[in-house]
Amino acid sequence: MGVEETVLSRLLPTADEETSLNDSSSDLISKLSSDQEASGIGMRPRLVGSVAKGTYLRDPDLDVFLVFPKGTSFDIMTSTCERLGKAYLDSLERRFADHPYVHGVYQGYEVDLVPCYHMERGERVLSAVDRTPLHTDHIAENISTEQRNEARLLKAFMKGIGVYGADSRSRGFSGYLTELLILHYGDFLSVLEAATAWRQGEIVLTVSNGNDSVDNLIINDPVDPHRNVASAVHIDSLSVFIHAAKEYLIHPDERFYFPRQRAALSVEKASESISFRGTRLLCAITPDGGLSDDNLHSQAHKALGSMSVLLKRKGFNVLRSKYIHKGSLHFIFELEHDSLPEAELHNGPPVWVDNASDFLAKWNDAPFGPPFIEEGRWKVFRRRKSQTAADVLRSDLREASLGASLGRNGIKVLDHDGIFDYQMMEIVTHLLDTRMSWEV
Ligand code: UTP
Ligand code: MN
Ligand code: MN
Repeated sequence: MGVEETVLSRLLPTADEETSLNDSSSDLISKLSSDQEASGIGMRPRLVGSVAKGTYLRDPDLDVFLVFPKGTSFDIMTSTCERLGKAYLDSLERRFADHPYVHGVYQGYEVDLVPCYHMERGERVLSAVDRTPLHTDHIAENISTEQRNEARLLKAFMKGIGVYGADSRSRGFSGYLTELLILHYGDFLSVLEAATAWRQGEIVLTVSNGNDSVDNLIINDPVDPHRNVASAVHIDSLSVFIHAAKEYLIHPDERFYFPRQRAALSVEKASESISFRGTRLLCAITPDGGLSDDNLHSQAHKALGSMSVLLKRKGFNVLRSKYIHKGSLHFIFELEHDSLPEAELHNGPPVWVDNASDFLAKWNDAPFGPPFIEEGRWKVFRRRKSQTAADVLRSDLREASLGASLGRNGIKVLDHDGIFDYQMMEIVTHLLDTRMSWEV
């Protein structure tokens, strides 16, 4: 048996699982349809997503959309959705993507219950969710039975290598995108073969000529040609996929789909390898502000970027940075050095400008000697405010634009030794173990 066949036999639901899934989803749909008040205002529930398309993996979620006639007020849609969620789902949570919806559990299945407007193809949508039923129809109508399994292989492959999901944590490929790739290239291996020749800005399918898009991958949405289905694909997700496709075609292996768990490095191993490199580590831990997943990860990415910029601006060269979410957010930075001399060169004005005298007056008693002239300007050595990288994060963070909700207040900073004292080996491993998921 080839690798894909073996993998597929692990991915496909058993007959029992399929029956139970179908029973539960039709059960839920019929309960929702029988709600008098909701059907009175024209709400029709429908199953969408991968279960409706037959492209789901083991333990799928049920994506149930509550489709309302156009003109229904937003408040009524949201409150009906919440009321129905409360009535039929367990462990209900309110969530928000670009649209409020609820998440809960029905007979053991995770359920997304999402309100949307009824749309005909070609109509302008009011919000992104309004397209979902059209996406479901498009795939269900065009995908063959064999291709459903090809889509499952592609999803599982992308999941295994860490690029599946268009959310802000994964910044990768959505379920719908994997299905469109299968429709476009025919089957799983043809998608991988095509990907070996992809580059940044790759246009798989476009209707507009003279594309001025800056996206990394472009596939027009067949149900809304002005939208790029791949707009969420980050350059690193695209790159990991291209590389994985090349590697897999040479050495197909189940580990691409089912990677081994990465073991955390021991304190000894990690500190040995970091002293061998001679670089320095710095860690910041902040509360997650109770943000929803999507918000949390987009803010965490931004915070990581602005902390790096701040460190660089203060003279600490950041070589790499990473974060993980573990109850709180853990940010880690690998630096060329993490302490700088007490004296810092400070540039003043050119000698001939009017306020040069102010500069002289201010710095005449400077601790390392009076101002001097170099290249036509006044310069002086002053005392550096934050001599260590850890002090920069402790004291100067207000100069960085951290996301509003990632409290600056609760921040805890660990310097190189602190990281090892507190044995922060999960985040350290995330940084130091650079093997690909399938190489672990
Ligand atoms: P899913 O993320 O569940 O994808 O969203 P999927 O195609 O079913 O694939 P898997 O197998 O579960 O991974 C299903 C549809 O619901 C929409 C998505 O855009 C997608 O088309 N959706 C889901 C929303 O628009 N908003 C939500 O909050 C959740
Ligand atoms: Mn789904
Ligand atoms: Mn879902």
